[in-house]
Amino acid sequence: METRGIILAGGSGTRLYPLTAAFSKQLQPVYDKPMIFYPLSTLMMAGIRDVLIISTPSDTPIFEKLLGDGSRYGISISYAVQDEPRGIADAFRVGKDFIGGSSVCLILGDNIFYGKLDFLRDAIRLNTGATIFGYQVHDPERYGVVEISTDGAVLSIEEKPDKPRSNLAIPGLYVYDESVTEIAASLAPGPRGELEITDVHRVYHEQKRLNVQQLGRGIAWLDTGTPESLHDAGTFIHAIEKRQGLKIGCLEEVALHQGFLSPEEYRFSVSLLPHSSYKNYCESLLANI
Ligand code: DAU
Repeated sequence: METRGIILAGGSGTRLYPLTAAFSKQLQPVYDKPMIFYPLSTLMMAGIRDVLIISTPSDTPIFEKLLGDGSRYGISISYAVQDEPRGIADAFRVGKDFIGGSSVCLILGDNIFYGKLDFLRDAIRLNTGATIFGYQVHDPERYGVVEISTDGAVLSIEEKPDKPRSNLAIPGLYVYDESVTEIAASLAPGPRGELEITDVHRVYHEQKRLNVQQLGRGIAWLDTGTPESLHDAGTFIHAIEKRQGLKIGCLEEVALHQGFLSPEEYRFSVSLLPHSSYKNYCESLLANI
């Protein structure tokens, strides 16, 4: 069965207040698109065509209005509500029926990646158990942190440790086999009262089925957790788009590139867009097909 994708886009988002007082963080603009376009395009670029978006009771209808059933991008998008922010691992409880017996790639709706995504395609193709990533940052204490030995064995995994044992943060992008639903069902909430994603990884680690792939400097993993980092992410996207004249995270373009939309279907999807620089961009690509 093909790997399915889940975008977790709920939570309370209080760190960005008052931006998030009326609607969720993952709907905020990152330069010229809503934030969720970026993680959705990451899943699509990895070849995933079946996506579940999990969000809060009040935001789920907004995501549905924004993205519909996915047919305009040649994919299937379904939606599920998380009524309380019970933790990241709760995604595998809420998404149990959606996952069924497939492997699954989870991306947090506020995680933005830029660069060649071979690392993710390889992880999906080669995964046995769970595959997570390690990314060097200067402030690992803000993230899940993994410590690996020189031969790549996992030595420790900790969530927001006061004294990080390495500077390898774990980005919010994970690949699991079908047993993740069972593992998540067996977990008890941690000290924060949440079902911790780190505990899922500990179980895989105990079973000797946890793989960690270190991401190189060629990949940008952008943070959107504070007003400043959200602004920086927008500036980064703007700088690259302006320099290249190409958009990052344009879902119609990604769908065309991946062959999810035929040229005819692409033309039709673009014809439905309202007059905007986004539509102009999509139309400009028609000349090349
Ligand atoms: O961004 C990567 C980091 O994401 C990882 O390094 C950490 O290991 C992982 O715990 C997570 O840390 P955060 O501090 O960003 O977690 P937060 O609780 O803010 O949740 C991350 C996203 O998931 C956020 O956009 C909201 C969403 N979320 C979170 C919870 C707890 C939900 O949709 N539902 C939830 O119940």
